[in-house]
Parts: sequence; C-alpha cells; structure tokens
Amino acid sequence: MRRLLVTGGAGFIGSNFVHHVISNSDDHVTVLDKLTYAGNRSSLDGIPDDRLTFVQGDIADAALVDELFRSADAVVHYAAESHNDNSLHDPRPFLDTNIIGTYTLLEAARRHGTRLHHISTDEVYGDLELDDPDRFTESTPYNPSSPYSSTKAGSDLLVRAWVRSFGVRATISNCSNNYGPYQHVEKFIPRQITNVVRGIRPKLYGAGENVRDWIHADDHSSAVLRILEAGEIGETYLIGADGERNNKEVVELILTLMGQDAAAYDHVTDRAGHDLRYAIDSTKLRTELGWAPRYSDFEAGLAATIDWYRTHEDWWAPSKDGVEAFYASKGQ
Ligand code: NAD
Ligand code: DAU
Repeated sequence: MRRLLVTGGAGFIGSNFVHHVISNSDDHVTVLDKLTYAGNRSSLDGIPDDRLTFVQGDIADAALVDELFRSADAVVHYAAESHNDNSLHDPRPFLDTNIIGTYTLLEAARRHGTRLHHISTDEVYGDLELDDPDRFTESTPYNPSSPYSSTKAGSDLLVRAWVRSFGVRATISNCSNNYGPYQHVEKFIPRQITNVVRGIRPKLYGAGENVRDWIHADDHSSAVLRILEAGEIGETYLIGADGERNNKEVVELILTLMGQDAAAYDHVTDRAGHDLRYAIDSTKLRTELGWAPRYSDFEAGLAATIDWYRTHEDWWAPSKDGVEAFYASKGQ
C-alpha cells in the first residue's frame, strides 16, 4: 500500500483520479484541497473512510504542506485555478495558486525527498493553425496565451528547475481537454449540457471553429498512474487520445444526443485571445510507457457524461445561476 497525497482532489480531474486510484489499487489517498468555488467535497462521496483522508487547506500554506509531505510516499499535484475566462477577469488567484502554490510543494518535495508528479496542460504550448499537420510534442516551445496558461507554464518551468538544481524527483504531464463527470458548470461541455437541461440555449464563443482535443478524465487518470509507476524522473509526457473536434460540432452533438434541434444554440462574444486549436501527439507516452486510452468513442463518452449531469442535478444546481450571471455580464 502506497500513501498518496493528491492536491486538488475535490476538483474535476483530481476527484476522477482519486476514484480511479481507489478502484484500481490498494493505495491510501490524502486529499489536500482548499475547496474554492471549483472544489466540491461531495465529488469524493462513496469512498470508504479507511482509504481516504480529506484535508481542507491551501497548497501555499508551507507549514501544512510540510506536515502532509512527512507521511506521503508520493504526491500528485492537480490543485490549480483552472479556468481561462476567470483568469481574464481576475488573474491574481492564478499567480497565488499556480505559481506560489507549486513553489511551496516543490520546496517540501526538496526537503523530504518526496516523489512528485505535476499535472499540467497542453495550453502551455499556445495554439496551432487549423490546417497545421503538426501536433504538440514534448519538444514544442512554450508559448502560452492567457493568464491561466502562462501561470501553468511558469509552474512547469519551476518543476524543471527544481529537478535540475535540487535533484527533486518530479515528472510532468501536459494533457488536452478533459470531459466526464464532476466537471464544474463553468466549463464548455457541462455548461451546454446543463443549459439544455434548464431550457437555456447553448452558447458558442465566436464562430465555434476552435478545436479542442478531447480525452475522457478516466483516461487522463490511467495515464497519470502509469507515469507515477514507470515515468522517468525529470521527463515530461504529453497525454492525449486523438479526440480533435471543433466547438460547433460538439455543441451540435450535445443538442442531438439530448433530443434537440442541432441548430438551437446562440453565437456569443468570443473569448479574448482565444486559442484556435490544440492537438496532442502522445507517441512518447504510448511507446515508452505502453499507455493507451480506453474511451475511443467520443460520442459514447459524451452520452454517458450527459446522463451523469441529468442524474446529478443536486451536484451542479447550486453553481449554475451564479455561473450564468457571470457569463451574462460579459455578453457570453
Ligand atoms: P478544477 O478547477 O475543477 O479543480 C481545481 C481544484 O483545486 C479544486 O478542487 C480547488 O478547490 C482546488 N484548489 C484551487 N486552489 C487551491 C489551493 N490554493 N490549494 C488547494 N486546493 C486548491 O480543475 P481541473 O479541471 O480538475 O484541473 C485540475 C488540474 O488539471 C489543473 O492543474 C489543470 O491545470 C490541469 N488540467 C486540466 C485540464 C482540463 O481539461 N480541465 C486539462 C489538462 C490539465
Ligand atoms: O487544454 C486543456 C485545458 O482545457 C485546461 O488546461 C483548462 O484547465 C480547461 O479549462 C480547458 O481549457 P479551455 O479553455 O479549452 O476549456 P473551456 O471548457 O473553457 O472551453 C472549451 C472551448 O469552448 C474553448 O474553445 C472555449 C469554448 N467555449 C467555452 C465556454 C465556457 C464556448 O464556446 N462556449 C462556452 O460557453
């Protein structure tokens, strides 16, 4: 049995990871989560008490982090401010959590010699043209666009520096867009599904030609576990499942799967600096570590996600009105 410390384990991808670990290992998990607006303790409901310890706290709290590192065999770091639109409105929390928070964890890893896996995003590489035959690889230069992605890029560079300068035993993964259960309704797919449930027309930024490379959150989790087991210290692994779709296609698919007219959506004000296309080449992870995604059918994964939101209105309803009021104030 390993003792894993998971930061941000009450968020979307972190909670999916904790459920994945509990189902696929005998590891004990301690979650450190501040429970910001994006964290939800109930996303971890159903996990037996003897497998999970939940600690509410800030990753930038050095004393608390130091105490938790004492009893961790490995740390998986998901905690972040994660939403681009929020970072355009108020960047400060992104610096505090993504930069100072990651720095605080790295210092603890350095003191205790703890193995750390840092979760990052493909957005650090900027964006691609729609007709670019290349995809992002581990050697693509960093070129982030938003306050969110620039703080994630900064956190990656801190990890690399702590590995090289102080011998911290860390790996990094950069994943593409995740979908699945427990995702906050501010994000694209849950926003549109819950809009349809509420009788609100889905909202597409601009023309909707922007492409995202979708992966099911459970596939992200299996990749992270694999890197934790077999990844080489100091290395970066890109995680993706060949799921490129433009936003217009995704909205139309949601409407169709929910029994609505596929054209029943609105075009709204575009996001400032909106990245055009992300696309991941995950050859390194697949060939060196033998990982493969399980969810190859996006339509089936999306249908299951729609079903989850339909049957878990109690989970998302408390956030829905506030999120829509925020977007409405921005013309979105
Ligand atoms: P999320 O916003 O759903 O969850 C973030 C979690 O971190 C929340 O539970 C929140 O309470 C917690 N948190 C925030 N600040 C904290 C702090 N200072 N101390 C402790 N906890 C804090 O985010 P997500 O979408 O699950 O993303 C998780 C990680 O995965 C992030 O690092 C993000 O950059 C990365 N990522 C996300 C995606 C995606 O598609 N969502 C893709 C690739 C990488
Ligand atoms: O690529 C990985 C990234 O994916 C992660 O690092 C981020 O944490 C995660 O939030 C996600 O970033 P995006 O900005 O791509 O995700 P979002 O769900 O906000 O938007 C997806 C696309 O949909 C994007 O092109 C903007 C568009 N969009 C979004 C919303 C909320 C709309 O058209 N309408 C909307 O209402």
